[in-house]
Amino acid sequence: MDKPKVVLGVSGGIAAYKACELLRRFTESGHDVRVVPTASALHFVGAATWSALSGNPVSTEVWDDVHEVQHVRIGQQADLVVVAPATADMLAKAAHGLADDLLTNTLLTARCPVVFAPAMHTEMWEHPATRENVATLRCRGAVVIEPAVGRLTGVDTGKGRLPDPVEIFEVCRRVLARGVTEPDLEGRHVVVSAGGTREPLDPVRFLGNRSSGKQGYALARTAAARGARVTLIAANTGLPDPAGVDVVQVGTAVQLREAVLKAAADADAVVMAAAVADFRPSTYAAGKIKKKDGQDPAPIVLVRNPDILAEISADRARPGQVVVGFAAETDDVLANGRAKLARKGCDLLVVNEVGEGKTFGSEENEAVVLGADGSETPVPHGPKEALADTVWDLVAARLE
Ligand SMILES: Cc1cc2nc3c(=O)[nH]c(=O)nc-3n(C[C@H](O)[C@H](O)[C@H](O)COP(=O)(O)O)c2cc1C
Repeated sequence: MDKPKVVLGVSGGIAAYKACELLRRFTESGHDVRVVPTASALHFVGAATWSALSGNPVSTEVWDDVHEVQHVRIGQQADLVVVAPATADMLAKAAHGLADDLLTNTLLTARCPVVFAPAMHTEMWEHPATRENVATLRCRGAVVIEPAVGRLTGVDTGKGRLPDPVEIFEVCRRVLARGVTEPDLEGRHVVVSAGGTREPLDPVRFLGNRSSGKQGYALARTAAARGARVTLIAANTGLPDPAGVDVVQVGTAVQLREAVLKAAADADAVVMAAAVADFRPSTYAAGKIKKKDGQDPAPIVLVRNPDILAEISADRARPGQVVVGFAAETDDVLANGRAKLARKGCDLLVVNEVGEGKTFGSEENEAVVLGADGSETPVPHGPKEALADTVWDLVAARLE
């Protein structure tokens, strides 16, 4: 089979160097990548780097290799065009159909999905001209990834940072596999918790669990792809922030509860995928607990943590809010799941079997989604993103 053909457009932003990592992700996963930088982009990263990393020639102008009619062919043959970083200038040119270099010509001749990953100073991103250009591009079916909040060029911080290249790659992978997703969650705010809480014993030790956060991140990514505003409450995941998602980092169950309750206040749906510790040590030692010669260690006394899923299910922040829980079970999986669904009072419960090498940390999952209405939706073994999409299908049906 032919390799999927990806055009990586790079425009002249300081984040151009991050596109090298995106390029590597594509080439290492079997894509044929043609890099089309703008002349400004070459001030940041030279043509030799793009050519060597992609294994393909690099031009910025329509006047190179004219006999190959590149200004038309590159776009026509592409399976995906992604522009990362996309400058304010490039968004304006694309929105208005300008065609004064090879990349803008390629954007006009491409009939495949197009993804823009803008990066710029907050003022440029928020300017009404840029807002209108982004709206125009989205309206035409392009995917425009929301920039992240964080450090910008120089000492400035704010919205406008290029999302992590790994996460831009994830957006592109989904678009290549499934086309541009129908934005059926547009106008909705969803909250997802992910990862595993850590309950400290002293400044260096904690009681934790094996949850990697990957299922919660897949839920956040898919909701963002479906047009939702997403708040991800992340507990100790160490994963890059999904593109276009607001991430709140927490450590303990108590901190996770606080963050979930705050974000859930105006949410249409809350999906609790995090593994929240049921118990925490009753005391916290301000200094590291020392080993004492000839003495047995003091027992660890535990106290209960708040039951966040039961609390938000019983006391919905707004009418019609859909609450989804996860049950990680090691035995009697379905029976325990049904009992948990009844006990917690949520609308949906995703029940999966966990254990060493099963689910935790893996890229795949297998589950049954139980509904409070008695429904039962089995999700066969597959990528965590597929389970995430099934959860959002069920949530979307309940929001209607
Ligand atoms: C150091 C430096 C950093 C820049 N970073 C950005 C940026 O991150 N985003 C942006 O939209 N423009 C940025 N610009 C401005 C663009 O380079 C300028 O608008 C240029 O005309 C864009 O050309 P292009 O869209 O054809 O690549 C930067 C300029 C300089 C000198």
